[in-house]
Amino acid sequence: MPPRKIIIDTDPGQDDAVAILLALASADEIEVLGLTAVAGNVPLHLTARNARMVCELAGRPDIPVFAGCDRPLGRDLVTAEHVHGKTGLDGPDLPDPAMPLQDAHAVDFIVDTLRAEPPGTVTLCPLGPLTNIAMAFEKAPDIVNRVAEIVLMGGAYFEVGNITPAAEFNIYVDPQAARIVFKSGAKLTVMPLDVTHKALVTKPRNDAFRALGTPVGVAVAQMTDFFERFDKEKYGSAGAPLHDPCVTAYLIRPELFTGRHINVEIETQSELTMGMTVADWWRVSGRAPNAMFMGDIDADGFFTLLTERLARL
Ligand code: BDR
Ligand code: CA
Repeated sequence: MPPRKIIIDTDPGQDDAVAILLALASADEIEVLGLTAVAGNVPLHLTARNARMVCELAGRPDIPVFAGCDRPLGRDLVTAEHVHGKTGLDGPDLPDPAMPLQDAHAVDFIVDTLRAEPPGTVTLCPLGPLTNIAMAFEKAPDIVNRVAEIVLMGGAYFEVGNITPAAEFNIYVDPQAARIVFKSGAKLTVMPLDVTHKALVTKPRNDAFRALGTPVGVAVAQMTDFFERFDKEKYGSAGAPLHDPCVTAYLIRPELFTGRHINVEIETQSELTMGMTVADWWRVSGRAPNAMFMGDIDADGFFTLLTERLARL
């Protein structure tokens, strides 16, 4: 099987960084066509910078990185410096990127790539708010049918919310964009908090990253050390959830995840529950399924894969 061609749409974010590193370490399974940055965890100028720093950390300054939308479709931007630090990538001391940002807008790159590649061969991997993807679908509806699959991190059902009591961060930041994507008809696989809250970086797992002894292994350990201080306090758990790498791990080892093909709608009206993913887990609504909504992960298998792949960089 040739590697799957993907575009990673991202707002790094330490966990985004690990997701990108995992993809770049897995050339047999994944060909990264480009990274598209979006405003989310921190403003766009920082996510576009962080994305390039991660490529350079992986020794891949050849990966094209594009800047996209600097704010959600219909709301003010909400950021998460309280989790990810001022830069979005606090923890390791990484050098400023030397590689350039591409001139083209991320949305145009997504549209042009989907039109240029054979239909059904490009997978989109959103790791942040869905603004760039929704903009691309609105601008060029012809590309929707050309998408192989969208594998995204976002939403929650049993775990409900992490930025409000009802909503997960990525969906909450741009619910209008999420609604467009979930209604698009594209094949959708969702990694919600129900999965990612089981992918906890415990001390032995973090020690394993550090023990790689490579710049990548040490940087990943420092990143997880950083956001752990917040998450451990918040969740009272044994470690912080490593959300976004679930997306790229799924592309490599889909059998690590189980879920249900169900209907998922996005709340865009109520301020109280704004951005809630109304997931019909029990199939009571009669509404047509539109997403493979994951519910469980083989966490040990996931961390074994991650550590083994990061060792390759
Ligand atoms: C998501 O929000 C961000 O803070 C993380 O990078 C992840 O994509 C988790 O809710
Ligand atoms: Ca993210």
